[in-house]
Amino acid sequence: MTTQRIAVIAGDGIGKEVVPAAIACLERIAELHTLDLRFTYFDWGSEYYLQHGRMMPVDGLEQLAAHQAIFLGAVGSPEVPDAESLWGLLIPIRREFQQYINLRPVKTLAGVASPLKAAQPIDLLIVRENNEGEYSEVGGRMYRGLPQETAVQETIFTRLGVSRVARYAASLAASRSGRLTSATKSNGIIHTMPFWDEIVAETARLYPEVSVTSELVDALAAHLVLKPWTFDVIVASNLLGDILSDLGSSVTGSIGLAPSANLNPEGEFPSLFEPVHGSAPDIAGKGLANPVGQIWSGAMMLEHLGHIEAATHLQSAFESALRDGLGTRDVGGPSSTAEFTSGVLSAIDTLAASQAYPTP
Ligand code: NAD
Ligand code: IPM
Ligand code: MN
Repeated sequence: MTTQRIAVIAGDGIGKEVVPAAIACLERIAELHTLDLRFTYFDWGSEYYLQHGRMMPVDGLEQLAAHQAIFLGAVGSPEVPDAESLWGLLIPIRREFQQYINLRPVKTLAGVASPLKAAQPIDLLIVRENNEGEYSEVGGRMYRGLPQETAVQETIFTRLGVSRVARYAASLAASRSGRLTSATKSNGIIHTMPFWDEIVAETARLYPEVSVTSELVDALAAHLVLKPWTFDVIVASNLLGDILSDLGSSVTGSIGLAPSANLNPEGEFPSLFEPVHGSAPDIAGKGLANPVGQIWSGAMMLEHLGHIEAATHLQSAFESALRDGLGTRDVGGPSSTAEFTSGVLSAIDTLAASQAYPTP
Protein backbone atom coordinates (compact mmCIF):
# COMPACT_ATOMS: atom_id res chain seq x y z
CA MET A 1 0.00 0.00 0.00
CA THR A 2 1.55 3.33 -1.05
CA THR A 3 1.45 6.11 1.51
CA GLN A 4 0.04 9.37 0.19
CA ARG A 5 0.62 12.53 2.19
CA ILE A 6 -2.11 15.16 2.19
CA ALA A 7 -1.64 18.65 3.62
CA VAL A 8 -4.84 19.93 5.22
CA ILE A 9 -5.42 23.66 5.69
CA ALA A 10 -8.89 24.36 7.10
CA GLY A 11 -8.17 28.12 7.01
CA ASP A 12 -10.86 30.57 8.06
CA GLY A 13 -14.58 30.84 8.79
CA ILE A 14 -16.63 27.87 7.61
CA GLY A 15 -13.42 26.22 6.35
CA LYS A 16 -13.05 25.11 10.00
CA GLU A 17 -16.46 23.38 9.80
CA VAL A 18 -16.53 21.86 6.33
CA VAL A 19 -12.96 20.54 6.35
CA PRO A 20 -13.42 18.33 9.46
CA ALA A 21 -16.71 17.11 7.94
CA ALA A 22 -14.98 16.10 4.71
CA ILE A 23 -12.00 14.59 6.52
CA ALA A 24 -14.34 12.34 8.54
CA CYS A 25 -15.77 11.07 5.23
CA LEU A 26 -12.32 10.65 3.65
CA GLU A 27 -11.05 8.70 6.67
CA ARG A 28 -13.99 6.33 6.52
CA ILE A 29 -13.51 5.82 2.79
CA ALA A 30 -9.76 5.26 3.27
CA GLU A 31 -10.48 2.59 5.89
CA LEU A 32 -12.99 0.77 3.66
CA HIS A 33 -10.71 0.87 0.60
CA THR A 34 -7.49 0.25 2.58
CA LEU A 35 -5.88 3.46 1.39
CA ASP A 36 -2.91 4.82 3.31
CA LEU A 37 -3.73 8.52 3.33
CA ARG A 38 -1.66 10.51 5.88
CA PHE A 39 -3.25 13.83 6.76
CA THR A 40 -1.00 16.59 8.13
CA TYR A 41 -2.82 19.59 9.60
CA PHE A 42 -1.56 23.15 9.19
CA ASP A 43 -3.13 25.90 11.32
CA TRP A 44 -2.38 28.57 8.72
CA GLY A 45 -4.82 31.34 7.90
CA SER A 46 -6.06 34.60 9.35
CA GLU A 47 -5.66 33.65 13.03
CA TYR A 48 -2.09 32.61 12.31
CA TYR A 49 -1.65 35.98 10.58
CA LEU A 50 -2.91 37.90 13.64
CA GLN A 51 -0.34 36.06 15.79
CA HIS A 52 2.64 35.93 13.41
CA GLY A 53 2.09 38.71 10.86
CA ARG A 54 2.01 36.22 7.97
CA MET A 55 -0.55 33.75 6.64
CA MET A 56 1.94 30.87 6.64
CA PRO A 57 5.56 30.40 7.72
CA VAL A 58 8.37 31.64 5.46
CA ASP A 59 9.04 28.04 4.38
CA GLY A 60 5.31 27.24 4.03
CA LEU A 61 5.49 26.34 0.35
CA GLU A 62 8.48 24.06 0.97
CA GLN A 63 6.52 22.26 3.68
CA LEU A 64 3.57 21.80 1.31
CA ALA A 65 5.80 20.58 -1.52
CA ALA A 66 6.47 17.40 0.46
CA HIS A 67 2.81 16.33 0.02
CA GLN A 68 0.97 14.61 -2.83
CA ALA A 69 -2.07 16.90 -2.50
CA ILE A 70 -3.36 19.90 -0.56
CA PHE A 71 -6.88 19.97 0.88
CA LEU A 72 -7.99 23.51 1.69
CA GLY A 73 -11.15 24.98 3.23
CA ALA A 74 -11.29 28.72 2.69
CA VAL A 75 -9.25 31.84 3.31
CA GLY A 76 -10.56 35.26 4.30
CA SER A 77 -11.55 37.01 7.50
CA PRO A 78 -13.14 40.36 8.31
CA GLU A 79 -10.17 40.98 10.64
CA VAL A 80 -7.51 40.72 7.93
CA PRO A 81 -7.51 42.67 4.64
CA ASP A 82 -8.30 40.26 1.78
CA ALA A 83 -5.20 41.45 -0.08
CA GLU A 84 -3.04 40.13 2.80
CA SER A 85 -4.87 36.85 3.30
CA LEU A 86 -5.19 35.89 -0.35
CA TRP A 87 -1.78 37.02 -1.61
CA GLY A 88 -0.30 35.47 1.55
CA LEU A 89 -1.60 31.92 1.14
CA LEU A 90 -4.00 30.85 -1.60
CA ILE A 91 -2.55 32.71 -4.58
CA PRO A 92 1.11 31.79 -3.92
CA ILE A 93 0.11 28.10 -3.68
CA ARG A 94 -1.75 28.25 -7.00
CA ARG A 95 1.16 30.05 -8.70
CA GLU A 96 4.27 28.49 -7.20
CA PHE A 97 2.87 25.01 -7.73
CA GLN A 98 1.88 25.86 -11.32
CA GLN A 99 -1.74 24.90 -10.72
CA TYR A 100 -2.74 26.51 -13.95
CA ILE A 101 -6.04 24.63 -14.34
CA ASN A 102 -8.95 25.34 -12.01
CA LEU A 103 -11.50 22.66 -12.82
CA ARG A 104 -15.00 23.42 -11.52
CA PRO A 105 -17.79 20.93 -12.23
CA VAL A 106 -21.38 22.17 -12.17
CA LYS A 107 -23.98 19.42 -11.94
CA THR A 108 -27.62 19.00 -10.99
CA LEU A 109 -27.94 16.78 -7.91
CA ALA A 110 -31.08 14.82 -7.08
CA GLY A 111 -32.79 16.20 -3.98
CA VAL A 112 -31.55 19.75 -4.63
CA ALA A 113 -33.95 22.10 -6.37
CA SER A 114 -32.63 24.57 -8.92
CA PRO A 115 -33.89 28.14 -8.48
CA LEU A 116 -34.69 28.05 -12.22
CA LYS A 117 -38.23 27.34 -13.36
CA ALA A 118 -38.51 24.19 -15.51
CA ALA A 119 -34.81 23.43 -15.10
CA GLN A 120 -33.39 20.56 -17.15
CA PRO A 121 -30.41 18.50 -15.90
CA ILE A 122 -27.17 20.47 -15.91
CA ASP A 123 -23.77 18.79 -16.27
CA LEU A 124 -21.00 21.12 -17.33
CA LEU A 125 -17.36 21.78 -16.53
CA ILE A 126 -15.78 25.18 -16.11
CA VAL A 127 -12.07 25.19 -16.93
CA ARG A 128 -10.69 28.36 -15.43
CA GLU A 129 -7.20 29.69 -16.19
CA ASN A 130 -5.65 29.89 -12.73
CA ASN A 131 -2.22 31.53 -12.94
CA GLU A 132 -2.41 34.74 -14.95
CA GLY A 133 -4.88 37.00 -16.79
CA GLU A 134 -6.65 39.67 -14.80
CA TYR A 135 -5.06 38.45 -11.51
CA SER A 136 -1.65 39.83 -12.39
CA GLU A 137 0.92 41.15 -9.98
CA VAL A 138 1.75 44.07 -12.27
CA GLY A 139 0.24 47.31 -11.06
CA GLY A 140 -0.53 49.03 -7.80
CA ARG A 141 -2.00 52.02 -6.02
CA MET A 142 -0.45 55.44 -6.38
CA TYR A 143 -0.89 58.88 -4.87
CA ARG A 144 -3.03 57.59 -1.99
CA GLY A 145 -5.31 60.25 -0.60
CA LEU A 146 -4.47 62.78 -3.33
CA PRO A 147 -6.90 63.92 -6.04
CA GLN A 148 -4.79 62.08 -8.64
CA GLU A 149 -5.01 58.79 -6.69
CA THR A 150 -4.78 55.96 -9.20
CA ALA A 151 -5.13 52.18 -9.22
CA VAL A 152 -3.69 50.12 -12.09
CA GLN A 153 -3.56 46.39 -12.72
CA GLU A 154 -2.32 45.00 -16.01
CA THR A 155 -4.05 41.97 -17.49
CA ILE A 156 -1.43 39.52 -18.68
CA PHE A 157 -2.13 36.71 -21.12
CA THR A 158 0.79 34.66 -22.39
CA ARG A 159 0.83 32.26 -25.35
CA LEU A 160 2.00 29.51 -22.97
CA GLY A 161 -0.70 30.28 -20.39
CA VAL A 162 -3.63 30.48 -22.81
CA SER A 163 -2.60 27.56 -25.01
CA ARG A 164 -2.16 25.15 -22.09
CA VAL A 165 -5.58 25.91 -20.59
CA ALA A 166 -7.16 25.73 -24.05
CA ARG A 167 -5.48 22.37 -24.67
CA TYR A 168 -6.74 20.99 -21.37
CA ALA A 169 -10.29 22.21 -22.05
CA ALA A 170 -10.34 20.98 -25.66
CA SER A 171 -9.11 17.57 -24.64
CA LEU A 172 -11.83 17.38 -21.95
CA ALA A 173 -14.45 18.43 -24.51
CA ALA A 174 -13.13 15.76 -26.90
CA SER A 175 -13.74 13.13 -24.19
CA ARG A 176 -17.32 14.40 -23.67
CA SER A 177 -19.69 15.97 -26.21
CA GLY A 178 -17.09 17.76 -28.32
CA ARG A 179 -18.67 21.14 -27.50
CA LEU A 180 -16.37 23.80 -26.09
CA THR A 181 -17.48 27.34 -25.23
CA SER A 182 -14.83 29.99 -24.74
CA ALA A 183 -15.77 33.01 -22.61
CA THR A 184 -14.53 36.18 -24.21
CA LYS A 185 -14.98 39.93 -24.32
CA SER A 186 -13.34 40.61 -27.62
CA ASN A 187 -15.74 43.14 -29.07
CA GLY A 188 -13.12 45.82 -29.49
CA ILE A 189 -12.90 47.04 -25.92
CA ILE A 190 -10.56 44.68 -24.07
CA HIS A 191 -7.31 44.45 -26.09
CA THR A 192 -6.13 41.19 -24.57
CA MET A 193 -9.22 39.19 -25.50
CA PRO A 194 -8.70 38.86 -29.27
CA PHE A 195 -5.32 37.29 -28.34
CA TRP A 196 -7.13 34.81 -26.05
CA ASP A 197 -9.61 34.04 -28.88
CA GLU A 198 -6.89 33.45 -31.48
CA ILE A 199 -4.95 31.06 -29.28
CA VAL A 200 -8.08 29.16 -28.21
CA ALA A 201 -9.15 28.78 -31.86
CA GLU A 202 -5.63 27.75 -32.93
CA THR A 203 -5.43 25.17 -30.14
CA ALA A 204 -8.91 23.78 -30.77
CA ARG A 205 -7.94 23.10 -34.40
CA LEU A 206 -5.65 20.38 -33.03
CA TYR A 207 -8.83 18.60 -31.88
CA PRO A 208 -10.92 18.11 -35.05
CA GLU A 209 -13.70 16.45 -33.03
CA VAL A 210 -14.15 19.63 -30.94
CA SER A 211 -16.27 22.55 -32.08
CA VAL A 212 -15.43 25.76 -30.25
CA THR A 213 -17.85 28.65 -29.86
CA SER A 214 -16.56 31.97 -28.55
CA GLU A 215 -19.26 33.68 -26.58
CA LEU A 216 -19.15 37.21 -25.16
CA VAL A 217 -19.14 36.76 -21.41
CA ASP A 218 -22.08 39.08 -20.71
CA ALA A 219 -24.32 37.07 -23.02
CA LEU A 220 -22.79 33.83 -21.71
CA ALA A 221 -23.74 34.82 -18.15
CA ALA A 222 -27.32 35.35 -19.30
CA HIS A 223 -27.34 32.00 -21.10
CA LEU A 224 -26.01 30.28 -17.98
CA VAL A 225 -29.17 31.45 -16.22
CA LEU A 226 -31.61 30.89 -19.10
CA LYS A 227 -30.34 27.56 -20.53
CA PRO A 228 -27.35 26.19 -18.57
CA TRP A 229 -28.14 22.64 -19.75
CA THR A 230 -26.95 23.55 -23.27
CA PHE A 231 -23.29 23.93 -22.16
CA ASP A 232 -20.70 21.18 -21.81
CA VAL A 233 -17.15 22.51 -21.30
CA ILE A 234 -16.56 26.23 -20.75
CA VAL A 235 -13.02 27.63 -20.86
CA ALA A 236 -12.48 31.04 -19.30
CA SER A 237 -9.82 33.43 -18.09
CA ASN A 238 -9.04 33.77 -14.38
CA LEU A 239 -11.57 36.49 -13.50
CA LEU A 240 -14.29 35.49 -15.96
CA GLY A 241 -14.03 31.85 -14.82
CA ASP A 242 -14.24 32.95 -11.19
CA ILE A 243 -17.47 34.82 -11.77
CA LEU A 244 -19.04 32.16 -14.00
CA SER A 245 -18.33 29.44 -11.43
CA ASP A 246 -20.32 31.12 -8.62
CA LEU A 247 -23.11 31.71 -11.13
CA GLY A 248 -23.01 28.13 -12.39
CA SER A 249 -23.15 26.55 -8.95
CA SER A 250 -26.00 28.81 -7.90
CA VAL A 251 -28.22 27.69 -10.77
CA THR A 252 -27.86 24.11 -9.52
CA GLY A 253 -29.04 25.17 -6.05
CA SER A 254 -26.26 26.66 -3.91
CA ILE A 255 -22.71 27.90 -4.01
CA GLY A 256 -22.15 25.54 -1.06
CA LEU A 257 -22.31 22.56 -3.44
CA ALA A 258 -19.49 23.50 -5.79
CA PRO A 259 -16.09 21.76 -5.74
CA SER A 260 -12.84 22.66 -7.43
CA ALA A 261 -9.49 21.15 -8.33
CA ASN A 262 -6.51 23.46 -8.78
CA LEU A 263 -4.40 21.19 -10.94
CA ASN A 264 -0.78 20.99 -11.89
CA PRO A 265 -1.48 18.51 -14.70
CA GLU A 266 2.18 17.52 -15.08
CA GLY A 267 2.24 16.29 -11.47
CA GLU A 268 5.52 18.08 -10.79
CA PHE A 269 3.91 19.86 -7.82
CA PRO A 270 0.99 19.00 -5.53
CA SER A 271 -2.49 19.96 -6.73
CA LEU A 272 -4.96 21.70 -4.42
CA PHE A 273 -8.59 20.76 -3.78
CA GLU A 274 -11.03 23.24 -2.25
CA PRO A 275 -14.67 24.26 -2.54
CA VAL A 276 -15.54 27.18 -4.81
CA HIS A 277 -17.08 29.17 -1.96
CA GLY A 278 -15.21 31.30 0.57
CA SER A 279 -15.06 31.52 4.35
CA ALA A 280 -18.69 32.82 4.60
CA PRO A 281 -18.22 34.92 7.77
CA ASP A 282 -21.98 35.60 7.78
CA ILE A 283 -22.77 31.98 8.72
CA ALA A 284 -19.49 30.83 10.32
CA GLY A 285 -19.70 28.97 13.64
CA LYS A 286 -23.43 28.33 13.37
CA GLY A 287 -23.49 24.82 11.94
CA LEU A 288 -25.18 26.15 8.80
CA ALA A 289 -22.40 25.49 6.29
CA ASN A 290 -23.09 23.05 3.49
CA PRO A 291 -20.11 20.65 3.40
CA VAL A 292 -20.92 19.21 -0.06
CA GLY A 293 -18.47 21.46 -1.95
CA GLN A 294 -15.69 20.32 0.40
CA ILE A 295 -16.66 16.63 0.34
CA TRP A 296 -16.97 16.67 -3.46
CA SER A 297 -13.53 18.33 -3.65
CA GLY A 298 -12.35 15.37 -1.54
CA ALA A 299 -13.77 12.99 -4.14
CA MET A 300 -11.93 14.90 -6.88
CA MET A 301 -8.74 14.59 -4.81
CA LEU A 302 -9.21 10.80 -4.46
CA GLU A 303 -9.65 10.54 -8.23
CA HIS A 304 -6.54 12.66 -8.81
CA LEU A 305 -4.58 10.37 -6.46
CA GLY A 306 -5.65 7.39 -8.56
CA HIS A 307 -8.38 5.99 -6.27
CA ILE A 308 -11.22 5.93 -8.78
CA GLU A 309 -13.39 3.41 -6.97
CA ALA A 310 -13.04 5.23 -3.62
CA ALA A 311 -13.88 8.53 -5.35
CA THR A 312 -17.03 7.04 -6.89
CA HIS A 313 -17.99 5.61 -3.50
CA LEU A 314 -17.69 9.01 -1.79
CA GLN A 315 -19.50 10.77 -4.63
CA SER A 316 -22.37 8.24 -4.51
CA ALA A 317 -22.60 8.64 -0.71
CA PHE A 318 -23.06 12.41 -0.60
CA GLU A 319 -25.40 12.26 -3.60
CA SER A 320 -27.46 9.63 -1.78
CA ALA A 321 -27.67 11.75 1.42
CA LEU A 322 -28.90 14.69 -0.69
CA ARG A 323 -31.38 12.48 -2.56
CA ASP A 324 -32.75 11.35 0.82
CA GLY A 325 -33.58 14.98 1.62
CA LEU A 326 -30.87 15.38 4.27
CA GLY A 327 -29.39 18.57 2.79
CA THR A 328 -28.44 21.68 4.74
CA ARG A 329 -30.67 24.79 4.93
CA ASP A 330 -29.14 26.53 1.89
CA VAL A 331 -30.55 23.72 -0.29
CA GLY A 332 -33.88 23.72 1.53
CA GLY A 333 -33.05 20.73 3.76
CA PRO A 334 -33.37 20.30 7.53
CA SER A 335 -29.78 19.41 8.50
CA SER A 336 -26.94 21.12 10.27
CA THR A 337 -23.40 20.58 8.93
CA ALA A 338 -22.88 17.76 11.45
CA GLU A 339 -26.24 16.10 10.74
CA PHE A 340 -25.63 16.08 7.01
CA THR A 341 -22.13 14.67 7.57
CA SER A 342 -23.59 11.83 9.68
CA GLY A 343 -25.96 11.15 6.78
CA VAL A 344 -23.02 10.88 4.38
CA LEU A 345 -21.11 8.58 6.77
CA SER A 346 -24.16 6.29 7.03
CA ALA A 347 -24.53 6.29 3.25
CA ILE A 348 -20.84 5.36 2.90
CA ASP A 349 -21.43 2.31 5.13
CA THR A 350 -24.70 1.33 3.44
CA LEU A 351 -23.12 1.54 -0.01
CA ALA A 352 -20.09 -0.45 1.17
CA ALA A 353 -22.36 -3.19 2.54
CA SER A 354 -24.20 -3.53 -0.77
CA GLN A 355 -21.24 -2.58 -3.01
CA ALA A 356 -23.86 -0.35 -4.63
CA TYR A 357 -21.55 2.28 -6.00
CA PRO A 358 -20.82 1.90 -9.68
CA THR A 359 -17.32 0.59 -10.29
CA PRO A 360 -15.45 2.20 -13.16
P1 NAD B 1 -18.51 33.30 0.26
O1 NAD B 1 -18.45 32.26 -0.79
O2 NAD B 1 -17.73 33.06 1.49
O3 NAD B 1 -20.05 33.53 0.65
C1 NAD B 1 -21.02 34.00 -0.28
C2 NAD B 1 -22.43 33.65 0.24
O4 NAD B 1 -22.65 32.24 0.09
C3 NAD B 1 -22.63 33.97 1.72
O5 NAD B 1 -23.95 34.42 1.92
C4 NAD B 1 -22.42 32.62 2.39
O6 NAD B 1 -23.13 32.47 3.60
C5 NAD B 1 -22.93 31.64 1.33
N1 NAD B 1 -22.17 30.37 1.40
C6 NAD B 1 -20.88 30.19 1.00
N2 NAD B 1 -20.51 28.93 1.23
C7 NAD B 1 -21.56 28.30 1.78
C8 NAD B 1 -21.77 26.97 2.26
N3 NAD B 1 -20.81 26.03 2.19
N4 NAD B 1 -22.97 26.66 2.79
C9 NAD B 1 -23.95 27.57 2.84
N5 NAD B 1 -23.82 28.85 2.41
C10 NAD B 1 -22.62 29.21 1.89
O7 NAD B 1 -18.08 34.67 -0.43
P2 NAD B 1 -17.84 36.11 0.22
O8 NAD B 1 -18.79 36.34 1.34
O9 NAD B 1 -17.83 37.01 -0.92
O10 NAD B 1 -16.35 36.03 0.81
C11 NAD B 1 -16.04 35.81 2.17
C12 NAD B 1 -14.55 35.71 2.34
O11 NAD B 1 -14.07 34.52 1.70
C13 NAD B 1 -13.77 36.86 1.70
O12 NAD B 1 -12.70 37.16 2.55
C14 NAD B 1 -13.29 36.30 0.39
O13 NAD B 1 -12.13 36.91 -0.11
C15 NAD B 1 -13.03 34.87 0.79
N6 NAD B 1 -13.07 33.88 -0.31
C16 NAD B 1 -12.14 32.88 -0.24
C17 NAD B 1 -12.16 31.85 -1.18
C18 NAD B 1 -11.14 30.76 -1.09
O14 NAD B 1 -10.51 30.57 -0.08
N7 NAD B 1 -10.94 30.00 -2.15
C19 NAD B 1 -13.17 31.83 -2.16
C20 NAD B 1 -14.12 32.86 -2.18
C21 NAD B 1 -14.06 33.89 -1.23
C1 IPM C 1 -12.11 31.50 -5.71
C2 IPM C 1 -11.98 32.79 -4.94
C3 IPM C 1 -10.61 33.39 -5.12
C4 IPM C 1 -10.40 33.71 -6.59
C5 IPM C 1 -10.33 34.63 -4.29
C6 IPM C 1 -10.64 34.40 -2.87
C7 IPM C 1 -8.95 35.13 -4.54
O1 IPM C 1 -12.99 33.67 -5.27
O2 IPM C 1 -11.30 30.59 -5.48
O3 IPM C 1 -13.03 31.38 -6.52
O4 IPM C 1 -10.90 34.70 -7.09
O5 IPM C 1 -9.72 32.93 -7.24
MN1 MN D 1 -14.51 32.80 -6.53
